[in-house]
Amino acid sequence: MVRYAAMTGTGAYIPEKVLTNVNLENIVDTNDEWIRQRTGIVKRHIAEPDMAVSDLCLRAARRAIKDAEIDPLDIDLIIVGTVTSDTLFPSTACYVQRGLGAKKAYAFDLAAACAGFVYGLDLADGLIKSGRYETILVIGGEVLSRIVDWTDRNTCVLFGDAAGAAILQATDEEKGILASYCGSDGDYSDTDLLGVPAGGSRMPATCETVNQKLHTIKMRGREVFKLGVRIMPEAALKALALAGITIDEVDLFIPHQANIRIIEAVGDRLGIPREKVYINVDRYGNTSAATTIVALDEAIREGRVNSGDMILMVTFGAGLTWGSTLIKL
Ligand code: UT7
Repeated sequence: MVRYAAMTGTGAYIPEKVLTNVNLENIVDTNDEWIRQRTGIVKRHIAEPDMAVSDLCLRAARRAIKDAEIDPLDIDLIIVGTVTSDTLFPSTACYVQRGLGAKKAYAFDLAAACAGFVYGLDLADGLIKSGRYETILVIGGEVLSRIVDWTDRNTCVLFGDAAGAAILQATDEEKGILASYCGSDGDYSDTDLLGVPAGGSRMPATCETVNQKLHTIKMRGREVFKLGVRIMPEAALKALALAGITIDEVDLFIPHQANIRIIEAVGDRLGIPREKVYINVDRYGNTSAATTIVALDEAIREGRVNSGDMILMVTFGAGLTWGSTLIKL
């Protein structure tokens, strides 16, 4: 009997506090018009100082659990995709486990930057299909506002905080993850292309690393832009080919929400009509591992997708990492 990993529940949590482009004009030398035109972002949400990423993930997870109508004790595994974990260790996933009381699960974080959630889905799908587990919680969550250099206009206008979660459960019906494809290329792992140089074993924290702002996001935006526009359509086509599905059969396309110009270029390359492309980068900015699952959760709540619809997700991020997944709701 063929097993599938059905997505039986989703949830998201967006912090209340809003930071608009106009607010940013008081922080760095930027302006609303530049940010809108070059990125499509209008505002982003910022977590309160007393909240760590596990607090966001926990809220999103509780909503997904409720949506799936399961008990936290049903969960076999918790995977959290994040680059802004509460602490270097223990993992954020263990904090989420404690918060949920998901005693039966094992829990770990997945470090794949923006691709963290899609990588998590791929793993969960494999583990469910293999017959090892029945119920897996996959989360993508970030508090990027903690690792942004608020004096660097090239990066600080781009990012926001959010978390999204999905429950995957074994089923013998042909639904859920129909295909997924992940890749990475460590030749692009230089931290100045996209990364945080200090705070790990390569460059532990010192007064100097703090003074030089080496614990914050560095990015060569234009290069990352071009890589995203090239890699995401290729990755999306791979998942479609694996599932034997054409782009015309996709009801909703959810690309990584980093920049409206990247989203439109990727959609155009795939030949998918604009009305089938989900966009919320205007409201949240780039929330890294959270973007795709927050978008899917919203699309479901808005009634933009329904049971049986075909959703294509694609993402890319630091590493480089990338991944795509085709989900039948
Ligand atoms: O999750 C994946 C990771 N990230 C991404 O996918 C982001 C990929 N990259 C991008 O989205 C874009 O490259 C950016 C939005 C980061 C930058 O847009 P761009 O069109 O590539 O602009 P640019 O870096 O070529 O900069 C153009 C100009 C520069 O001025 P000069 O040198 O032409 O005088 C920048 O200094 O815009 C200036 N600039 C700004 N001006 C006002 C850069 N940031 C700002 C700003 N406000 N915030």
